[in-house]
Amino acid sequence: MRVEYEPIGIVHSPFVEAEGTPIQPSRADGAQGSVEVFPEYEAGLEDLEGFSHIILLCHLHRSKGYSLKVIPFLDTVPRGLFATRAPRRPNPIGLSVVRLAGIIGNVLSVEGIDMLDGTPLLDIKPYIGEFDCRTDPRFGWLEVARERRRVADGRFKQT
Ligand SMILES: C[S@@+](CC[C@H](N)C(=O)[O-])C[C@H]1O[C@@H](n2cnc3c(N)ncnc32)[C@H](O)[C@@H]1O
Repeated sequence: MRVEYEPIGIVHSPFVEAEGTPIQPSRADGAQGSVEVFPEYEAGLEDLEGFSHIILLCHLHRSKGYSLKVIPFLDTVPRGLFATRAPRRPNPIGLSVVRLAGIIGNVLSVEGIDMLDGTPLLDIKPYIGEFDCRTDPRFGWLEVARERRRVADGRFKQT
């Protein structure tokens, strides 16, 4: 089966190279960007402004190929790909929880961007604590990982 999606918009960010881009919104120091939703979807933004945070699902379009074992940004030993948030994946979908600073027309101002400029947007969902936040999580290898990196290095660079 083949699955095809059309982007519903595009992410505008200050980051043009993977290297140096924040590795997650929580480490992005509030980096500002915007999300341009294509006009045909603008009506779907109604009622979103009441939410402080939104989930952006994106196609990490500059990601090519993948390895099933990767050394994540926050570790020094190989881990199973699906136990990481590495950008090179069989389906390179990025999930980022960003702060919603405002909406004007079809453009969302957001803070905490970890996507490259021009990243195609697949979907937007409101972040809802009751649905998305757990009180008793375990964090696997991250509980002992010691790296404190905030931005990407070149480890997932394309060849
Ligand atoms: C570790 S991934 C995490 C993305 C998302 N927050 C997630 O958890 O799915 C973030 C890194 O992916 C890379 N990246 C961001 N946008 C990309 C794009 N459009 N194509 C390829 N790589 C991208 C950058 O190096 C960035 O630091």
